[in-house]
Amino acid sequence: MKGIILAGGLGTRLHPLTKATNKHLLPVGAEPMLYHPIRQLTGAGIRSILVVTSTLHMGDVVRCLGSGEEFGCHLSYKVQEKAGGIAHALALAEDFVLGEKICVILGDNVFEYSIAPYVDAFEKQEKGARVLLKEVGDPERFGVAALDEHQVLEIQEKPSNPKSSYAVVGLYLYDDQVFDVIRRIQPSLRGELEITAVNNAYIRKKQLQYDICRGRWTDAGTFESLFEANQIMLSNHNNILPHS
Ligand code: G1P
Repeated sequence: MKGIILAGGLGTRLHPLTKATNKHLLPVGAEPMLYHPIRQLTGAGIRSILVVTSTLHMGDVVRCLGSGEEFGCHLSYKVQEKAGGIAHALALAEDFVLGEKICVILGDNVFEYSIAPYVDAFEKQEKGARVLLKEVGDPERFGVAALDEHQVLEIQEKPSNPKSSYAVVGLYLYDDQVFDVIRRIQPSLRGELEITAVNNAYIRKKQLQYDICRGRWTDAGTFESLFEANQIMLSNHNNILPHS
């Protein structure tokens, strides 16, 4: 399996912290934010990782992460010229993936526990996609899953009347159909290729499975959530907890 870290975007909700630097280089605990998704992927046995970021901050991102040697992995980089949404950024990874399964992490997501069990479950899944859900108090900020006892019925992106309190977190596992799926989706009203549209296409194929995320999880795209990400990482000395 290959890893992809999406670290584009303008970070406007964190201005002025992001005026001169990329959101994903801001500190979380004792390390730059991007160390966390790299450590999560390597901890799940994924050693070939692509980082997608904008033209503006690519130099700083490469200076921060280097070849990957420090993390025991191989890092590749791809420039996203314009902010066209998460699925648009993911489409840039097609020639890196070469038909393998992929594990995609949004660079601003922080997970208290290792993602390894979810990656292992997807290794065993014959085909399709796998997402991770977390019960949250403010689902309207996220993609929200409508569920029955067995499956995800539909995902709505930032709904004003959420059908559940289960947010779809920024960890997505896909088979090699994903690039054809992205080619077929339409931009949303805000003009972006949404990852939620990709996941809904897998739901329609009856090929989307899910796990519930253990422990604390947050994104770090707002001042409040960045603070929470710092609390999670500082309380564990930036270590990722194993599932024992
Ligand atoms: C994105 C996705 C959303 C998901 C969230 C997780 O939102 O569009 O579905 O729940 O990441 O962090 P964004 O952070 O780009 O607003």
